[in-house]
Amino acid sequence: MSSKVLLTRTIPSEPQKFLESAKDIELIQWKEKSVIPREKLLEMVKGVDGILCMLTDKIDSELLDAAGPNLKVVSTLSVGYDHVDLNELRKRSIPLGYTPGVLTDATAEITVMLVLAAARRMREGIRAVENGEWGKWNPTWMLGTQLTNKTVGIFGLGRIGSATALRLKPFIGNEGKIIYCSRTEKPEAASIGVIKVDFDVLLRDSDVICICSAMNEETNEMFNYEVFKKMKKNVILVNTARGNIIRQKDLCRALSEGMFGSVGLDVCTPEPLDPNDPLLKFNKVTVIPHLGSATLETRTLMGNIAVKNVLTGVRGEPLPHSVK
Ligand code: DGY
Repeated sequence: MSSKVLLTRTIPSEPQKFLESAKDIELIQWKEKSVIPREKLLEMVKGVDGILCMLTDKIDSELLDAAGPNLKVVSTLSVGYDHVDLNELRKRSIPLGYTPGVLTDATAEITVMLVLAAARRMREGIRAVENGEWGKWNPTWMLGTQLTNKTVGIFGLGRIGSATALRLKPFIGNEGKIIYCSRTEKPEAASIGVIKVDFDVLLRDSDVICICSAMNEETNEMFNYEVFKKMKKNVILVNTARGNIIRQKDLCRALSEGMFGSVGLDVCTPEPLDPNDPLLKFNKVTVIPHLGSATLETRTLMGNIAVKNVLTGVRGEPLPHSVK
């Protein structure tokens, strides 16, 4: 008898075909462009052996109960898994597959892009062109700041944090410095040429801060008003990890009090952000819509891993990439 796999979205064509070509599964799929509504998800998940989900699907006890006793694996098409209740999965001995490694380059690239965009006032520049405010060349107009000789602070030196540090090094030059703050020891730090510091030192000394950590109980809203007050007045703050790591209400308050040189966000709370959200009123804030891994190459690789994870899981084999 074939195993039932629920796929909660349309994925890039290579992994989609890979999944469809598996002869031993029956594919049930939400094919709309939008996120599967919760009610629909609870209905479609009934009796499945495997779920291939997105970071937009909440995987909790209600959903696992709705799936029922056949469920053998959950595979998420993401490296982050804060949308999944890991304890509930553990209680039921259901492995969780995820997609580490393959989105490192794309996410580090977009982190660097946001640092540069924020530092050089890209959003304001584009708006000025579009709004007809671009006058003759002016020696004092739209001045940003450059990265040469700056101190960059990386919060979370995992795969993405390390890749971001390596990419930023040529921009800061020999006089610049990269410091980082991480929960665990990072033996690779020496070869990357980054220096470990305490959180408060990172806040105090950094001209640019890149949030590259995982979202968990410890990092949830860790960047709040008290923390912002410890940063340099003109700091550039970039977040490409998860929106909840920043307490957004506090970010707006700090911005309205004149803190920050500029801010670049690929993630925020909620997603999607309402176009009337107060955050977007601040010219020095650049927000892009969670595009960190959004390249065809990366999403294809993520999709292939997620498909392998779900197929091995329903076949009762060890997953190639499971959360420990
Ligand atoms: C992930 O995989 O967790 C990323 O946020 C997707 O861009």
